[in-house]
Amino acid sequence: MTFSQRFLFAGFFSFLLGVVVSAQVAPLIANISARQTTNLDGQWQAIVDPYDVGSLDYRAKSLNDRSAFFKDYKPQSPSELVEYDFDTSAQLQVPGDWNTQRDSLLFYEGSIWYKRSFDYAKSPHKRLFVHFGAANYRAAVYLNGEELGRHEGGFTPFDFEITNRVKPQGNFLIVRVNNARAKEFVPTVNTDWWNYGGITRPVTLVEVPDTFIQDYFIQLAKGSTHQIAGWLQLNGTQLQQKVTIRIPEANLSKTVETDATGHATFAFDADLTLWSPENPKLYAVEISAQTDNVTDRIGFRSIQTRGTDILLNGKPVFLRGINIHEEAPMRSGRAWSADDARTLLGWAKELNCNFVRLAHYPHNENMLRLADQMGIMVWAEVPVYWTIQWENPDTLHNAENQLQEMIARDHNRAALIIYSVANETPVTEPRNAFFRQMIQTAHSADSTRLVSAALQAHESDAPDRITITINDPIAADLDVLGNNEYIGWYVHQPADADRTDWLSSYNKPLIMSEFGGDALFGYHGDSNTRWTEEYQENLYAHQIAMLKHISFLRGTTPWILMDFRSPRRTLPRFEDYFNRKGLISSRGEKKKAFFVLQDFYRQLAAAPAP
Ligand code: GCU
Repeated sequence: MTFSQRFLFAGFFSFLLGVVVSAQVAPLIANISARQTTNLDGQWQAIVDPYDVGSLDYRAKSLNDRSAFFKDYKPQSPSELVEYDFDTSAQLQVPGDWNTQRDSLLFYEGSIWYKRSFDYAKSPHKRLFVHFGAANYRAAVYLNGEELGRHEGGFTPFDFEITNRVKPQGNFLIVRVNNARAKEFVPTVNTDWWNYGGITRPVTLVEVPDTFIQDYFIQLAKGSTHQIAGWLQLNGTQLQQKVTIRIPEANLSKTVETDATGHATFAFDADLTLWSPENPKLYAVEISAQTDNVTDRIGFRSIQTRGTDILLNGKPVFLRGINIHEEAPMRSGRAWSADDARTLLGWAKELNCNFVRLAHYPHNENMLRLADQMGIMVWAEVPVYWTIQWENPDTLHNAENQLQEMIARDHNRAALIIYSVANETPVTEPRNAFFRQMIQTAHSADSTRLVSAALQAHESDAPDRITITINDPIAADLDVLGNNEYIGWYVHQPADADRTDWLSSYNKPLIMSEFGGDALFGYHGDSNTRWTEEYQENLYAHQIAMLKHISFLRGTTPWILMDFRSPRRTLPRFEDYFNRKGLISSRGEKKKAFFVLQDFYRQLAAAPAP
């Protein structure tokens, strides 16, 4: 049963059971920007509810009467007691984290209720869904006083069908968002990024035909540069249909028939201009069923490994990368817009990057679509970060669900080449078992891309040389190895990189997925003084000299493009709740180390591939 069929079955099955929770996995509609949509962004009414009085009574029992905030109940007489009122409550901007919208909410972790009223004249024979780009961390969604469903995970999209619930006038959509942390969650309680809460990406009404093209996967077959292979999934009542995939510019047209579950697979030869950073060619692809059609812009490229090489379109490539957090440039807060993406990826291009690691969670779709257009390859990651509950089946299910949702949204983006299932996790057997399940889930959802993780190799220290060996057992299951090291910042001095040797127990490509050090923009001194730009600049110079000697190195993503907010960074003057390892300050000012890396990447770009 394919990934999308499982979704369809789960939804239908739990609909029978009347379990609202299953509604939260209503079919994730692909490529909503190509659909007939109504945007609900803007100022929403908001109630800050630290003690969850909107959903629990004083005995912590769930509320379902008029005192439940999702009812949006108004007093019917002057004597009636109602202790909440969305319409006289202050507003919050959607999309947007709540933390940077009010000083009083900067450190807030808990529940906030959002309300948005709207009218909607639905066309006959059409279905309507409400789609969320993301909400951090848990969301419960209600329409007109009824629960639609819930979603867990702060960085992936979800939607609910409201076809039979929407009214022509006076609809009220209420969302309780809660960003409280917990050990069993993904991520768990401890992260080096700000726990921005809220409806952090756009909210959209999506109108589709009764039977519509819910999802499709159209890419080159694994390891091929001339055969397209993929599948498509219809959703509705007319599941058996003829569907045609057209690529007019390449004079390609292929008609398939969906089976009783609305699913079809296909494979056909195609003579295409391959997508690459040098030539990020995207084709208009039209998918036409009898009841629906949708168009997308898709690039075609192959990505594989051969020994320690990474092959893009069959040729060895070096990934000149940088890490990026989804922190809004200039204004701080959770980034979400095309402008944010253009600024961040624009800086990566300025660095001569052909690759970015989007850390440590799925970033917004604007980043992926712009990377497609700009020719920047992407490492995407789920927030299995540091020490999560490896033996908790709910934690595994949650992590797998976030991985599948990330893959479902972006699996047609040529720029996306690597799925990462984790960052800096302790080597234990329960962790290895967890990893293996995640790696398998990634491969079964999409066999054409590479799977990696950011590991932490350990060193043996001799008087004159430092030797670091990549021998994490889980590396055997990964396609590409990632490794984080902080020589010159958390361990040793910058110059100790000069006497460091790297070994690997695996004949696989390595991406040095993190290295770097902090610097406060504008703080200057000698290169031994921490927090100065000169210290960071010197650290990069020694790192680059070391990296050039690693024979199996096929990519680098220093930590990090831009300073970002972190609750772990309390040092006054230098940190002030910001991680300062950026090559650019949060106000867009370039530090000296920016130019050291820019120069290294210029040389690499000019040199023949490894
Ligand atoms: C870690 C981690 C990052 C963190 C960075 C740092 O390796 O993966 O999330 O921000 O190091 O300490 O700056």
